[in-house]
Parts: sequence; structure tokens; C-alpha cells
Amino acid sequence: MFDPKVLRRDFPILTREVKGKPLVYLDSAATSQKPREVLLAEKEYYEQHNANVHRGAHTLGDEATQLLAKARQTVARFVGVREGEVIFVRNTTEALNLVAYTWGLDNLKQGDTMVTTVMEHHSNLVPWQEVARRTGAKVEVVGVTSEGLLDLAEYQQKLTLAPKLVAFGHVSNALGTINPVKKMTKMAHKAGAVVVVDGAQAVPHMGVKVNQIGCDFYAFSGHKMLGPMGIGVLVGRREILDPMSPFLTGGGMINEVTRENSTWADLPDKFEAGTPNVAGAVGLASAIDYLERLGMEEVRGHDKQIVEYALQEFYKVRNLVILGPKDANYRSGSVSFEYQGVHAHDVATILDSEGVAVRSGHHCTMPLHKSMGITASVRASFNVYTTKEDIKKLVEALQKVKTVFGK
Ligand SMILES: Cc1ncc(COP(=O)(O)O)c(C=O)c1O
Repeated sequence: MFDPKVLRRDFPILTREVKGKPLVYLDSAATSQKPREVLLAEKEYYEQHNANVHRGAHTLGDEATQLLAKARQTVARFVGVREGEVIFVRNTTEALNLVAYTWGLDNLKQGDTMVTTVMEHHSNLVPWQEVARRTGAKVEVVGVTSEGLLDLAEYQQKLTLAPKLVAFGHVSNALGTINPVKKMTKMAHKAGAVVVVDGAQAVPHMGVKVNQIGCDFYAFSGHKMLGPMGIGVLVGRREILDPMSPFLTGGGMINEVTRENSTWADLPDKFEAGTPNVAGAVGLASAIDYLERLGMEEVRGHDKQIVEYALQEFYKVRNLVILGPKDANYRSGSVSFEYQGVHAHDVATILDSEGVAVRSGHHCTMPLHKSMGITASVRASFNVYTTKEDIKKLVEALQKVKTVFGK
């Protein structure tokens, strides 16, 4: 039985106090906390198996190589793709830059179009702007409706420009909106585009099967899904990855090197130059084991319940303007709001004094905030260990904002 109150015990940090109050951690979209077994998996790797991979003709080298391969298998199974299609990177940002600096620079030219959306995290906007700057291509940005959903009519209209690349998020980190990625992928493919999906906020909360979405690239970060920092994943379709140029070059990614030239290793090594983060991959696999034991349907069920409860409670607080869809069916992971008359940073500081950790600012979505006519918001974000009590404590702490600011 999925019970956040019970599984909280697996997360050592949640017993901490902050400012003399029990920690209420509502910043999981920035990074999730890690269960003990993930921490132990990394520790055990370093204590028992640490060696460099691929090149060691010794037992520890073989063990490390096998652990990396096993972690890749776990990730591939989890998101429904083939092992060679899983490329380990540092994080979502690196995964998206990999696509931009390889596929993007090699395939886009003056006059070409890319399409993205106004709700993107900067990681899924700035790399395309950079490709545009270097190639002379342009970026078209689809807006959101007044309900905080992606404007699909505008999306359809931008697709008539025959973009070469379309990039969108699966779940918005600021609005919480879940985008209809399968449908959007189909539409973009019909228009002839390569499709890149930023899954950073989706993979932690719902069973994502990249093969069912049908996109060409899908990116996510280990640290937002109970895994360690410094490990992330780019999933790419083999057919598109195979002919692509490498991103970084050097050790570990070559087949043969002469004084003049080099040839590349097969997938996924071609895209994993240098010493990989084996401990991170082991930790990520351990996080996936943990999530799979909970069951991704249960995880999403809990996520939806918490979002629903947070919406219900936040709507009762005077002066709060809730961002994003009103219906929890269309949202995941977080609820952001504006406290009218009080700056988001002031709200977050007061909440912190009560032990409540939330994020304030633009959440790396400046164009989205601008489109809504605000500069900053407060975001409460959740994970498997979030309880209704956490939300209640946040709402109680908001009373202090009222006391201090008289609003
Ligand atoms: C939707 C989305 N995309 C990308 C990122 C960037 O992730 P990372 O910092 O792990 O590269 C984030 C992080 O908050 C995010 O929420």
C-alpha cells in the first residue's frame, strides 16, 4: 500500500529541522530528496567496485563496467527503449544541448524554423536560440491559453511553417501542465519535424514510455526522480542517433584513432566521451528500482491527489492567484502561485522561517512569467514523500505572511 507517511522514513533528510521547526520540503521540482537505499547504492559502489570502466583488464574494472551496463538496462526498460538508445549525460540541460549542438547545428540552416513553447524551462529554449543564432534559423514560440494549457490551435498553425525541429516539455515546471505529448509528436512528425521532449518533470511522477510517445529525443534528470545529482539521460531513436556527429570527443567514444583521423564507437559510447558517472548511474538505477516497487501508477495517483489537495487549499487563501490549470487531471508535480501585493521572495523567506522550503522567482521560465504579466511566483512542488500535512503546514505558514504584511 502506497503511504507517503510510511515511505517518508526512507528519506533521512526529512527528519531534519530548519530554523528550529520540522522541515517541510516542498521544493522537489528543483531536486527531489533521496531514499536511503539510493545513498547506500552509491556508497557501496565506491566502497566495493570503484574502477574506471571499459579499459581495465581487472576484476574491479569489469564490475564497474557491468554495473554501468546494468544501470543502462534498468533505465531502458523503465522508459521503454533499447539499451543503445540510452545515453548517460549530467542532466536534462546537457541532454538538450547535446541535441542542439549535434543534430541542430548539422541540420539547420538560414531560413529554417524551429518550434518551441512559451512554457519551456530555459533549458529547452536557450539551446534552440543558440542554434538559431549560429545557423540563421529562427525559433517560433507557441503560447498558452488562459487556463494554462498549451494553445494547440497555435501549435497546429506554427506547424504549417514546416519546422525542422519541434521541442516541448512533457510537464511544465512552472504551471504543472501535462502536455499531450503523444498527440503533439504525431502532429509534428506529420509536419516533417524531428521531435525533442523535455521530460524532466514527467519521469519522476508518471510511467513514461518513450516508445509509445514516439518522439525522436527525450531528456530527463536523475536528481528529480529520487536519484543522485550529476546523472541524466538522453534517449534518442537509434535511427536518428546513428548518423549523428558526436557532441564531445576524446577518450571512450572512438573506434580507431590515427594521427590524422578518428572513427567513432557504436551507440551509446559515441555520445559518452570521457569517464562516466558510474556511481550516479548506479544510484539512478536504484532510484528506479525504488519507484518501480512503489508502482508508477500509484506514484501518479498520489501525485494527482496531492496536487488536487494543494489546489483546493490554496484556492481558499485570500490573495493567492494560482497559476496553471484548475483541474488536477491536467497537472503534475507542483502548484505555483502569486501572493498579490507581496513579492515571491518575501513569501518564501517567511515560509522558510517556519521550516517550509518552497521556491520563489521565475523558475527558469522568464518568458512564461512575462506572458502572464508577472516577474516571479512561489512554487510548492511535490514527490512521493509529500503529505497533505505538508500542504497544511504551508497554508498555516502563509498566515504569517498575512500577519507581517497585513495582506
Ligand atoms: C522542465 C525542466 N526542464 C529542464 C530542467 C533542467 O534540469 P537540470 O537542471 O537537471 O538540467 C528543469 C529543472 O528544473 C525542468 O524543470
